[in-house]
Amino acid sequence: MSDDHVPGTAGPEGDGQGRGAGKGRDGITGPRRTGAAPSGESVEDRLRRAFRTAPEPTPATRGRAALRLVSENMHMLPRPAVVPADPWEALTVRAPGSASQLLDREQMEEAVAGSFDHLRTTLLKMLRANGWNRVAIAAPTRGCGTTYSAAHLAHSLAQVPGSRTLLMDLNLRRPGLAAMLDMPGTGRMRAFLGGQVSLDDHVVRTGDTLAIGLSQHSEPEAAHLLQSEVCARVIGDMMDQLSPDVMLCDLPPLLEHDDLSAFLPQVDGVLLVADGGQTLPEHVAACERRLHGQTRVLGVVLNQARRTGPLPAYA
Ligand SMILES: Nc1ncnc2c1ncn2[C@@H]1O[C@H](COP(=O)(O)OP(=O)(O)OP(=O)(O)O)[C@@H](O)[C@H]1O
Ligand SMILES: [Mg+2]
Repeated sequence: MSDDHVPGTAGPEGDGQGRGAGKGRDGITGPRRTGAAPSGESVEDRLRRAFRTAPEPTPATRGRAALRLVSENMHMLPRPAVVPADPWEALTVRAPGSASQLLDREQMEEAVAGSFDHLRTTLLKMLRANGWNRVAIAAPTRGCGTTYSAAHLAHSLAQVPGSRTLLMDLNLRRPGLAAMLDMPGTGRMRAFLGGQVSLDDHVVRTGDTLAIGLSQHSEPEAAHLLQSEVCARVIGDMMDQLSPDVMLCDLPPLLEHDDLSAFLPQVDGVLLVADGGQTLPEHVAACERRLHGQTRVLGVVLNQARRTGPLPAYA
């Protein structure tokens, strides 16, 4: 027997009857390693050819030939379907910086933590009872503590084990969340809402139960973007992918800008933030009139903003 007939080595082409083809120890025709298969021949064709040329194959020998061919051609087989990862789990994890104003529960005054927990419980009950999960938070006027309230409410919501809270800074005119959480360099909200930046390039997780979308650059024409179809699609896709229990969106003051009005179709309701020091009852009444017939006011958060210095300037 020449080397041509040593199993598994190259040999002269068979004649279709098993003659001249390399034979293995089990007597079946071995696959040619060189020269036997025309280039571009598929795995299926090679399997068929192997079966055709095997002398009197039994089911067992067919199986062995098939196994050998398949194992030698693994790289040609279609890849098994990959189970997609949970997009929530796939988000980059980034903790708030050391200068974050979001206090640890231990550091927070008991009364403050208790108030946000109470608000969380009431809000969750209302949302669950109605199948809602998209909430806007805004004040009648600037500097009432909307961002402070949004961050602390989100933090409180995120204390619920196994839950998912998504906090979005949609105050594109005067974004405040990145500074409040000491997370610089993470905000490209305009590009994200415009569909130019992907979800996992923009939204980050600060832990298992809280994800945040930040904004950093002041955007005077924010209402156009918030009202756009592409923004609605991006928000819808994000909700589908991340499946948060609550999405909380920080928006500019309602009586000063029309951004919240532009974004109303994307939310189930609005939480109003009133500042004990500056918000008048007529401010709240004016907000309710503005929102009437378009969405529902889910509640009014009475905050005591402890600002130092003048009211913030808006873009
Ligand atoms: N309850 C509070 N306790 C302590 N500090 C607070 C409280 N509420 C607000 N502040 C502080 O007051 C300042 C203004 O609050 P915040 O940025 O939340 O206001 P805002 O309504 O979001 O303002 P803007 O109109 O600029 O978005 C911040 O420095 C914030 O930390
Ligand atoms: Mg703010």
